[in-house]
Amino acid sequence: MLKVAIGCDHGGVELKEGIVALLGSMGLEIADMGTGDCCSTDGKPASVDYPDYGAKVARAVSAGEVDKGILVCGTGIGMSIVANKFPGVRAALCHDAFTARMSRMHNDANVLAIGGRVTGREVALDMVNIWLSTPFEGGRHQRRLDKISDIEKSSLSV
Ligand code: RB5
Repeated sequence: MLKVAIGCDHGGVELKEGIVALLGSMGLEIADMGTGDCCSTDGKPASVDYPDYGAKVARAVSAGEVDKGILVCGTGIGMSIVANKFPGVRAALCHDAFTARMSRMHNDANVLAIGGRVTGREVALDMVNIWLSTPFEGGRHQRRLDKISDIEKSSLSV
């Protein structure tokens, strides 16, 4: 069974709850890595730092503890930057069905980053569905991913 880790900061709590419900309805194994610590006194999710949660999910993907990761922050930008620091992680910040599909077909993305303040709930859930069910095309795209791996290895040894 596919195992998916998910994490967010305060900008993605609401959308993460919707995605967790969707993953549950698909019968997937979910590792929810927070944040879930809400709320502050004004009823809003307590402010946290996205690198803390992005790193938890990306580390699990990098270590092979889960098959895929999903990250949500306000824009998805911070989460994608953090996740792409981890070896073997190919995090894609996607905004619609097309980018979600292409990130799987051409980039074999293993982490999906979404902006909880950018992308509406229905579009985001559609993206997650598409992202989880679209296979990597391989072929010439594998050659390009191999080049990314080589760049990653050479930059780690600098
Ligand atoms: C938090 O306010 C916000 O900066 C964060 O959610 C994210 O958008 C960062 O990239």
